[in-house]
Amino acid sequence: MRVSWTFPDEHGDDARGRRVTRQGPPVARAVKARPVGEVTRGTTGHNRLRRSDRWITAVYGRLLVSGERPLVVDLGYGASHVTTTELFLRLRRVRPDVEVVGMEIDPLRVAAAKPYERPGLTFVRGGFELPVSRPPLVVRAFNVLRQYDEAQAWEAWGMLRSRLAAGGVVVEGTCSEIGHRATWVTLDASGPRTVTLSARLGGLGRPSDLAERLPKALIHRNVPGERVHAFLRDFDHAWTVSAPYGAYGARSRWIAAVERLAETWPVPASPPLGGRRRWRLGEVTVPWTAVAPEGTG
Ligand SMILES: C[S@@+](CC[C@H](N)C(=O)[O-])C[C@H]1O[C@@H](n2cnc3c(N)ncnc32)[C@H](O)[C@@H]1O
Repeated sequence: MRVSWTFPDEHGDDARGRRVTRQGPPVARAVKARPVGEVTRGTTGHNRLRRSDRWITAVYGRLLVSGERPLVVDLGYGASHVTTTELFLRLRRVRPDVEVVGMEIDPLRVAAAKPYERPGLTFVRGGFELPVSRPPLVVRAFNVLRQYDEAQAWEAWGMLRSRLAAGGVVVEGTCSEIGHRATWVTLDASGPRTVTLSARLGGLGRPSDLAERLPKALIHRNVPGERVHAFLRDFDHAWTVSAPYGAYGARSRWIAAVERLAETWPVPASPPLGGRRRWRLGEVTVPWTAVAPEGTG
């Protein structure tokens, strides 16, 4: 990842030694900064992110109504405005004056989304530096970090966290093409806090089928010796022994499996993060520390 802040130094040169002042004494003048990050594939689709939208409104509804008009950034919305518009419409039910900014690093995708602006919803160019006029309360970034490497993903997490409003959160995740399978991490100013797995249960073979959708910071850690691997192994076991509940439907089986898993893993069992109302949606959330990669705490 290229970090592209181009502020002149005392000689009027930028970080790469290029002159950014015209003549005379050095001037502390910023030239237009290049957004931090890279243009990647723009794949997206209607309702693809409904699982995380639903989760954000349920889990952060209180946060969204708690203070001044909240700013929410949807980073890397892709080739179409749709997922940002859907997030806006869903958040507006919770907080009617919410301001949502769809942010893309690709200027052509920003131009394509502009006609869909409306009061409270805008589309702008930007990257991980989040060029907005005030700190966002929520940053949602889905299917963005997949195409960066693990070290870059951690770096991006750090940059996004540093831009948050007080009490704010980053929701960073990955999902399947049409959103039937998704996982996401939430982070606050201090670091990663939770990991959520969410699946359409019809057609799910076993919980570890979600492994291929793990966020970048975890996907390469699904190997013996890592916590996330042990977690998925134990979840699969709980799913197997809960098979008899399948007679009442896949939801009953998932709930039984999560309850079994909670005997040995720190699964929150009450709202907003846990409890049957969330589990029946094919979700489970655990603290980040339960599955964090070895050596990261
Ligand atoms: C696969 S699309 C995801 C679209 C949408 N979020 C979704 O999940 O359906 C990823 C988008 O992220 C954009 N992107 C990648 N890095 C970015 C960055 N640092 N800042 C802003 N956008 C970025 C890419 O240009 C691409 O359009």
